[in-house]
Amino acid sequence: MDNIISQTIDAEIVTELVCAFYRRVREDDLLAPMYPAHDWHGAESRLRDFLLFRFGMSEQYVKERGHPRLRMRHLPFSIGSLESKRWQKLMGEAMDEIEVDSETKELLSAFFAQVADFMRNRPD
Ligand code: HEM
Repeated sequence: MDNIISQTIDAEIVTELVCAFYRRVREDDLLAPMYPAHDWHGAESRLRDFLLFRFGMSEQYVKERGHPRLRMRHLPFSIGSLESKRWQKLMGEAMDEIEVDSETKELLSAFFAQVADFMRNRPD
């Protein structure tokens, strides 16, 4: 799936998407308190670089952070289906804001849903 995504998206879209996403996260009652209040810029860079890495566009993430091990990195945060669904909702709104085409939105949504589900570490 990642290979297909890299054919329909470029680095500029990923950057715009993550920017639109974090604009929402910062204002979100449920998610904002989970993020480092003094490092929004860093959090935005980490997600952007991770996505560019997963879509085969850049090695920056691995150079700076090593192997992603995303599930482990999310263990300090309590993530149930509520948080997972909110994350995906805000990302969906961000995709709409920057007008990602429908085929790309479908591919990205499936990818985000899979990863977000995997991040859940609190039973409902
Ligand atoms: C399921 C709901 C999710 C919640 C509540 C959540 C929350 C968080 C929080 C609080 C952080 C720490 C911010 C930072 O300092 O970087 C973080 C980091 C991160 N998240 Fe999530 N996240 C979720 C899903 C996802 C998904 C679906 C992805 C990828 C598609 C993702 C990718 C990342 C990455 C790459 C980092 C930085 C990891 C690092 O290098 O330290 N997250 N997330």
